Amino acid sequence: MAEEKVAIRLTVLEIDLKKIEQNIVQYKKKLKNVSFMAVVKANTYGHGVIEISKLAIINGAQYLGVATIEEGIQIRKSGIDIPILILSAILPEQFQICSQYVLNITISSNQFFKKLCELLDENVLDIHVNIDTGMHTLELIQMKFIHLLKDSIHKKVIIHCANSAASINLPESYFDMVRIGLGIYGY
Ligand SMILES: Cc1ncc(COP(=O)(O)O)c(C=O)c1O
Repeated sequence: MAEEKVAIRLTVLEIDLKKIEQNIVQYKKKLKNVSFMAVVKANTYGHGVIEISKLAIINGAQYLGVATIEEGIQIRKSGIDIPILILSAILPEQFQICSQYVLNITISSNQFFKKLCELLDENVLDIHVNIDTGMHTLELIQMKFIHLLKDSIHKKVIIHCANSAASINLPESYFDMVRIGLGIYGY
């Protein structure tokens, strides 16, 4: 007998976009002189990635951050054309697809650093170098690689570090851009 698929525990989310907009506006007001990356990973934790991304852009977000290449592609296919950063590490084999959808990449592996830099020479993608500042969630990029990068690529360097909480409490962590996730949703 074919197995019937029945939703046993349905969840309904009622989302007040006005409230979400207010949250974004409050952050923008506070962070006048730094760029704003809206972290919209994991379908914006169920809020609806395309709606929230558009709302963030209308209210001044200059960058979007996602966890995976698939999330980035979904956003690109909706017509959104602002810079998107894949926050997690990618493999050199995935570079082509990132390039095709103009998804900027994070390098967080000493092993792939050189390879990815070579690929970048022929492309227009921006790269973000993940430096472990203590969370130890990703491999540490060694400073010697950073110097190598600075010498070989002549692009504007932007530094970003702060999440939602740091963007409220720690002005010294703002640098050039903040990455706001949970704060957009009111947490
Ligand atoms: C690399 C990175 N930066 C920033 C954020 C946003 O953090 P928060 O939700 O605490 O604002 C996340 C969220 O997962 C992240 O993975």
